[in-house]
Amino acid sequence: MFLWGGATAASQYEGGFSVKEGMDTQDCRPYLPRNNNATVQTRLLTKKVIEESKQEKNELYYPFRVGTKGYEHVKEDLELLKELGIQVYRFSLSWTRLFPKGIENEPNQEGVHYYDQIFDFCNKNKIKIFLTMNHYAVPLYLVEQYGGWTNRDMVQYYLNFAEFVFKRWGQSVDYWLPFNEINAGFFSPYNGTGLIKPDKEDYSTQKVFESLHHQFVANAKTIQLAKKLNVPGKFGAMISCFCYYPLTPKPEDNFKLVKEEQINQWFCSDVLMRGKYPYYMESFFKNHEVDLKITEEDTQLLSNYPCDFISFSYYSSSVVTTEEAEKTAGNLVVTTKNPYLEASEWGWQIDPIGLRTTLNKVYDRYNCPVIISENGFGAKDTLENNQVHDPYRIDYFDSHFKEIMKAKELDNVDVGAYIAWGIIDIVSAGSCEMDKRYGVVYVDGDNEGNGTYKRYKKDSFYWYQKFIQSHNKM
Ligand code: BG6
Repeated sequence: MFLWGGATAASQYEGGFSVKEGMDTQDCRPYLPRNNNATVQTRLLTKKVIEESKQEKNELYYPFRVGTKGYEHVKEDLELLKELGIQVYRFSLSWTRLFPKGIENEPNQEGVHYYDQIFDFCNKNKIKIFLTMNHYAVPLYLVEQYGGWTNRDMVQYYLNFAEFVFKRWGQSVDYWLPFNEINAGFFSPYNGTGLIKPDKEDYSTQKVFESLHHQFVANAKTIQLAKKLNVPGKFGAMISCFCYYPLTPKPEDNFKLVKEEQINQWFCSDVLMRGKYPYYMESFFKNHEVDLKITEEDTQLLSNYPCDFISFSYYSSSVVTTEEAEKTAGNLVVTTKNPYLEASEWGWQIDPIGLRTTLNKVYDRYNCPVIISENGFGAKDTLENNQVHDPYRIDYFDSHFKEIMKAKELDNVDVGAYIAWGIIDIVSAGSCEMDKRYGVVYVDGDNEGNGTYKRYKKDSFYWYQKFIQSHNKM
C-alpha cells in the first residue's frame, strides 16, 4: 500500500511561544530581510545571536516563535488535513514544549495536551502518523549548559524525552524518525545539533563529528528502548538528498561527485542503516584530524539497532565540478548551476527525474522500504479574493508524482509513501521567511508576523485532494 501525506515541523508551524516555557535554538533565529546569503546568515547560531535573542528590547522579529500559529489553529488545521484526504501526517514534537529545559523529570502538561489532540485526531480518523521526534530545534538550556550534541550527556536527556513519548503515544505511531535530516549536522552544523559557531575561527570539524556520533548513539539507544517497551511502528533514518550530476564527463568531476556524495549524502544513513561507520570515513577522519571516541558499547549498539526504513527529503538536484562555475542555492547548500534545469525564485533547481534517480539509488543502496519524507515547491503565493492560484506548485507535484510512479512501477523501487512538505504554510527553515511557501493551505501571515493567520485552500489543495482520491488504493 502506498501512502500520500503531508508534513509540518513544530518550530516552523506551532508558535505558542508564551506557553512553551523554554527556548530552543530555532527561537533564537531572527528574520533578516533576504540578500544573497540571508539563507546562510540566519542559520548561524552564535553566542551573540543567542544573547540578542534573549533581550526584551530587541526589535528583531523571531518567526519561529510565531510559526503559522498552529498552536491556536490546530483543530481547524487537522480538519483541513482530513478534508484533503492525506493518509499519513508527518509532524514533529517540540522538545521544549514538553521539557522546557530538556532536563526535567516531568513534562509540561500544557504541551502534553496540545499533542494529545493531534494523536487522538489522527487515530480517530485513521490517518497514519509519521513522527519526527526532533526536527532541528534543541533546547537552549542544553546548548548553553552542555554544548548541545557535542556532549555525550545529551544522549541520556534525549532518551528521557523519548521514554516519555513512547509511554504516552507509543502505540499511536506508525513511523518513527528520531532525527530530521541527520546529515545536515555535517553541512549545516549550526542548525541541527545545537553547535554554537565560535566568534572568530570556523567550526571545529572534530566537534561536528562528535555531535553526529552522539546522535547516532542516541538513535540506536532509542530503538533499543522502543523494543524494550514493546513500542510498535518502524524506525527510520532520514537524509537530505541532492542527486548529484558531474558538470562534465571529465573523470575529475565524476570522482569529486563520488566523494561529495559520500560525505554529504550517504555517510549518516550508511551508519544508521548498515550499523557501522563506512570505510571511506577512515581516510576522511585522518585527513581532517578527527579522532572520535567510539566505545565498544557504541559499536555494538549501532550494529544491533539499525533503522528499519530509509527516508529522504528531495527538492532539487545538484552539480559537481572541479572548475569555477556559476553557483546557485539548494537545500541548506550552495551548488553549481545546471544549464538544463529551471530553478525556483530561491535558486533551487527543479528536477523531477532527479527524484526517480534518487529513489533508485537509495533503494539500491539499502534494499529496504523507502519513504519520501519531504518534497514540495517553495514559492511566493498571492491571496486575492480569498483564493490562491498556484499552477507552479501543481506542475511541480504533477511532474514529481509521475516520476515516483515510474520508480515504483517501472523500476520496482519499494517506495511506501510520499509526504508533501509544509502542507499548511509554515515558516521557511532555511531563510526564516513566510514568503517561501510550500502549502496547499495558505496562511495569511507575512515575513514580519503581520496578518490574520486565517487559512485559505489554494488551487493545489483541490488538485492534491483529487489526486489522492484517485490514487488511494495504490
Ligand atoms: C528541509 C527541512 O531541509 O527543507 C525543512 O527539513 C525545511 O525543515 C525544508 O523547511 C525546506 O527548506 P526551506 O529552507 O525552503 O524551508
